[in-house]
Amino acid sequence: MSEFFPVATVDQLPPGTILACMVGGKEIAVVNCDGTLYAISNVCSHEYAQLSEGELDSDDCTIECPLHGAIFALRTGKVRALPATEPIPVYAVKVVDDTVQIAVS
Ligand code: FES
Repeated sequence: MSEFFPVATVDQLPPGTILACMVGGKEIAVVNCDGTLYAISNVCSHEYAQLSEGELDSDDCTIECPLHGAIFALRTGKVRALPATEPIPVYAVKVVDDTVQIAVS
């Protein structure tokens, strides 16, 4: 069973917000896409760039890397647009009371 770690309160993550945090030594981006929370690696799989600095597309539920423009699906971490070819890790998210929690394994 995964261990969940608190990263923020729900109030800190309104729709459209991207929050960078460290969980279990991993760089994570928590994203509120139109009211649904996702946790993804904050590091692009192409080169080193922080996806939390990128652009969120709430309609497509994707994030665009700020460095070369690769696009990743928030639900699955799959690549939607080059130049990245490898998916990024995604992590479990849950809300307990007013706290957003992330599990990394
Ligand atoms: S570092 Fe993200 S697309 Fe190149």
